[in-house]
Amino acid sequence: MNKQEIKERMDSLVEVLNQYGYSYYVLDNPTVPDSEYDQKLRELEDLEKAYPDLAREDSPTQRIGGEPLDAFRKVTHETPMMSLGNAFNEQDLRDFARRAQEGVSGEVTFVCELKIDGLAISLKYQEGKFVLGSTRGDGRIGEDITSNLRTIRSIPLSIKEAGTLEVRGEAFMPHKSFLEMNKEREEKGEEPFANPRNAAAGSLRQLNPKIAAKRNLDIFLYGVGEWENSNITSHSESLEALHRLGFKTNKEWKRCKSIEEVLEFVTYWTEHRKDLNYEIDGIVVKVDSLDHQDELGFTAKSPRWAIAYKFPAEEVVTTLKDIVLSIGRTGVVTPTAILEPVRIAGSTVQRASLHNEDLIREQDIRIGDQVVIKKAGDIIPKVVRSIIEQRTGEEKEFHMPEECPDCGNELVRLEGEVALRCINPNCPAQLMEGLIHFVSRNAMNIDGLGEKVIIQLFREDLVHTIADLYRLEKEDLLNLERMGEKSVTNLLNAIEASKANSLERLLFGLGIRFIGSKAAQTLAMEFETMERLQHANLEEIVAIEEIGEKMADSIVRYFEEEKVTQLLKELKELGVNMTYTGQKKSEIKTDSLFSGKTVVLTGKMEQYTRKEAKELIESLGGAVTGSVSKKTDVLIAGADAGSKLEKAEKMGIEVWSETELKEATEGEE
Ligand code: IVH
Repeated sequence: MNKQEIKERMDSLVEVLNQYGYSYYVLDNPTVPDSEYDQKLRELEDLEKAYPDLAREDSPTQRIGGEPLDAFRKVTHETPMMSLGNAFNEQDLRDFARRAQEGVSGEVTFVCELKIDGLAISLKYQEGKFVLGSTRGDGRIGEDITSNLRTIRSIPLSIKEAGTLEVRGEAFMPHKSFLEMNKEREEKGEEPFANPRNAAAGSLRQLNPKIAAKRNLDIFLYGVGEWENSNITSHSESLEALHRLGFKTNKEWKRCKSIEEVLEFVTYWTEHRKDLNYEIDGIVVKVDSLDHQDELGFTAKSPRWAIAYKFPAEEVVTTLKDIVLSIGRTGVVTPTAILEPVRIAGSTVQRASLHNEDLIREQDIRIGDQVVIKKAGDIIPKVVRSIIEQRTGEEKEFHMPEECPDCGNELVRLEGEVALRCINPNCPAQLMEGLIHFVSRNAMNIDGLGEKVIIQLFREDLVHTIADLYRLEKEDLLNLERMGEKSVTNLLNAIEASKANSLERLLFGLGIRFIGSKAAQTLAMEFETMERLQHANLEEIVAIEEIGEKMADSIVRYFEEEKVTQLLKELKELGVNMTYTGQKKSEIKTDSLFSGKTVVLTGKMEQYTRKEAKELIESLGGAVTGSVSKKTDVLIAGADAGSKLEKAEKMGIEVWSETELKEATEGEE
């Protein structure tokens, strides 16, 4: 074959494989046996290896690629990604429907959709290629997670639509993947995810796309953010158009001509949600006609043409087997209910905090009771009440002990607090909680050190303080349960790597009272070294914006402790970094040339590649978008610029030549 023929063969393989993938992942309807897919994929891989210059970006072999990132780039959503107002009952829905009808001319029609419990995502296509995938973020600014989204097989890497198209939807983790992943995590001694939504969010926030690729995520698209060449007039048409373009849409949607039909849809899915193989947390009701949507417009936060009906929090009954005490890293002793395991809102629950003794008394909760459990905000399990009618007389009242169940020290109630505390600074339970916090994701982020391993480390007397972690040796770890050569090596590498962390991680990890990860970041950026912070006085710390008196006081007291001085000295000797290595305060540009500006590039550039120009503009605070709209501030026009230039001129938008871009930015970087 000559090169032209090879290219044609490769193109045809990409097309065919993408078609197979579409049937399999988008339509859930495979058209060929796996063996045929695999054989073609192998042929394509071989050709790509031999002719890397001919490999196409939308090849199915190119889903997982790229190096792990250090952080996600921020992206501005040209059309903000709004959230929805909530409805909790029939009346709220009737009110919404009435307001909608009153706000439009003509009969209003609704579209009901399932409210997928995942993560809102935006996908952008330019010239038919998937170019940017981002999270919702705060609605205006999200994060670029393109490489992770590319690993979702149901997202097409190319589509047959030349103009700019931005579509929106929900990425989620199907039940099956969720259960498998949690099982694996538990086997490895890692904390399982609480529910599929957290699992999806956690997976998409992985800096290494190889990890996201293993998580089997999926997506449903339900809306259009921007569509250059669209001629749709209703939401239902856009759902159909998305489907035609090759996107995965949820087929369980319905046009409803009356509120009664909407309520029927809601009742049906309240009953049948359990039959789906993914989690939904409600029903979204949207006004169908785009003209009607325009008439209704937006409030400050959300559209008036749509509402999210939230299913009531699920309640289940189970037995309260025991009440045990858990000791937090600050010494607070909390009674925790041990429950007969039950499944609720997507996960199995076997523990729930009972907060404090007063509350247990007030609610008359006894050991052995049948109790009603629900998940507050669908995340944290809560004991709602006991079913007193079902008591047998065998139930026992609970009393808080006077001593710490772990170290035997007297428990005290600090002034103004309901909670009881163990104030022994050497209480092993507290130290253990402290260590769990120290290694956690936002702190030192040491992978492979799950709770179960930490408990073993304490039990085997291998670790008493944070510093001991850095003294662990291979032989120590090999003796622990379920720790093979490979996991030990990985763990030791992770511990070693954590030494290089920037100061804010260490500061947060130390678990100073009232110092969360954001305050730790501020302090690290401000003081740059641990030593400077250690020696700072109250006035100097309070002077920092965002650091209040309570925090400052806690910091000063923390560093006054002999034990802390000793700990920091040891950590330093063990090679733990004590300086801030993140972005310097002076380096953060707040008033760059393009800050807050939206820029469009068009035509042929001679001095920059498109990518370079885009990066240049972004490094100066601008957002580069694909099409000219009211929001465009500057159009940069290269040679032979066509319709975009015309449009920009018509709209009175500032137009620069490539040379003007160069002159304006020289010396700016
Ligand atoms: S429409 C402006 N449709 O629910 C309209 N949202 O607060 C934006 N969601 O942030 C959303 N399924 O993450 C829409 N079929 C659906 C949805 C859906 C899930 C999520 C989305 C949004 C939140 C609503």
